[in-house]
Amino acid sequence: MSHNSDLPNAEYSLPASGADAGVDSIPRHVAIIMDGNGRWAERQGLPRKAGHRRGVSNIRQVVELLAQRGIRVVTLYAFSTENWRRPNDEVDSLMAILAEEIEPQTRELHKAGVRLVHLGDMNPLDPALQDAIRQAQAITEHNAGITVNIAFNYGGRDEILQAVRRMLADGVLPDDVDESLFARYLYTDGCPDPDLIIRTGGEQRLSNFLIWQAAYSEYYHTPALWPDLDAAELDRALSAYGQRQRRFGSLAVQDHPSGA
Ligand code: IPE
Ligand code: IPE
Ligand code: MG
Repeated sequence: MSHNSDLPNAEYSLPASGADAGVDSIPRHVAIIMDGNGRWAERQGLPRKAGHRRGVSNIRQVVELLAQRGIRVVTLYAFSTENWRRPNDEVDSLMAILAEEIEPQTRELHKAGVRLVHLGDMNPLDPALQDAIRQAQAITEHNAGITVNIAFNYGGRDEILQAVRRMLADGVLPDDVDESLFARYLYTDGCPDPDLIIRTGGEQRLSNFLIWQAAYSEYYHTPALWPDLDAAELDRALSAYGQRQRRFGSLAVQDHPSGA
């Protein structure tokens, strides 16, 4: 694809030769808990929704940087199934921001060859927002660049329960349930497990994010608030990942268990 894009790197795809060195130490899938928007706004004396807006505007450069570093899949935690417990005006502003931003962001990400995938339960979302999400997925479906999963109204427990319900509805027999069949019923069907989970905002918890898929993920947390997460901090996270020794329960150090 060649586009007249305002982005420095018009197509977010794997560098032709992979990474220069140590290909094995580059995560395939990086998942990010984008936390700290509210604190960012409070520190500037702004309403929390201003932090959420600022947070959305940081997505493009983070995705671009990760694509340049050779990452194939990024999952962004944008709204959890528990975030409905926030005050109505904050929930309303989060929904409004997604509704406003989805088209312009999709346009730019599409130009850059990004494939967008929604993870989570769409049912409680406004029908117009559901349509916009489906459209964003359809428009970008065949793009060959980095895959960006947006976890919006996503909860790990909810994901597991909906998988169980669908398996039962399909009449799956108990003896046929194994890890690979189960994984096919999750929102992340077909997606490799996250190699690296980054949490901004300083907390050291998963907050119901990818609880099945994170079984052997490496974890990195930073006090940087999501709107402030920049290339230098992302490179620190990637380099910390490169130093980790992954064993997956065995004695041998491995990188990606599936070898993909
Ligand atoms: C993360 O930022 C975005 C969402 C959870 C929707 P927060 O809104 O949780 O920001 P803090 O943690 O209060 O600073
Ligand atoms: C996790 O952040 C959810 C998202 C970033 C979307 P929260 O701010 O909701 O997490 P807790 O409540 O501090 O655990
Ligand atoms: Mg938070």
